[in-house]
Amino acid sequence: MQEKIKIWIGSSNAGKTQEIQQIFSGFDTIANFEGFRGLEVEENGESFEENALIKARAFYRALGEGRGDGFVLADDSGLCVGALAGRPGIYSARYAYLSPANISKDSPKPIQNASDKENIACVIKELHQKSIHSSAATFVAAIALVGCVKGKYIEKLTRGELEGLVVDTPRGQNGFGYDGIFVPLGFERTLGEMEAFEKNQISHRRKALQEAKLFLQSL
Ligand code: IMP
Repeated sequence: MQEKIKIWIGSSNAGKTQEIQQIFSGFDTIANFEGFRGLEVEENGESFEENALIKARAFYRALGEGRGDGFVLADDSGLCVGALAGRPGIYSARYAYLSPANISKDSPKPIQNASDKENIACVIKELHQKSIHSSAATFVAAIALVGCVKGKYIEKLTRGELEGLVVDTPRGQNGFGYDGIFVPLGFERTLGEMEAFEKNQISHRRKALQEAKLFLQSL
């Protein structure tokens, strides 16, 4: 019997970890790996792909010499709003501290995580500054796989997108991040009004993870 491919999940987010484990159910997944705890990775890339790769490489290094065959899986994701020239983009998680709507010379903000509510408020404020109430937008997820098969080092990137509309009135209590202001194309409800299983069928992350799975199955 062929041995299952080992995948160390490079995320501490419970929702993402569960989604990854569902999609990679035929693989030997390792979640909440002790050796990744407390690892500080500076995400200083200029794209979702670069940041996902930076994380996956750092986690792979942290596995050390005895790691053998297997892959680290890491992701990076965010929301790109058309009317805002693609912002918040790679800065989605900490947008409230970086948004032009919030920065003035007298009050430089520290770069750290902001709450979902603060981030959403910034996007809405920027839409209103342009006198608009909605905009075409895209959720993007990049997945990086870094690992080894039969001693051969491999890096692989995949990307998934979800098109939709950003609105200026949050709706729904489900999900996280910008879900409450994002209406996927072909739907009337926001992601915040959808059940997790519905969102997971169409999500940007799902698409990128499926492509990553196909790649591993092709090895
Ligand atoms: P990261 O990929 O964990 O760095 O997350 C980036 C940020 O993008 C999150 O903190 C959210 O604000 C936003 N984001 C990414 N994916 C989603 C999603 O599926 N729904 C809502 N917000 C998301």
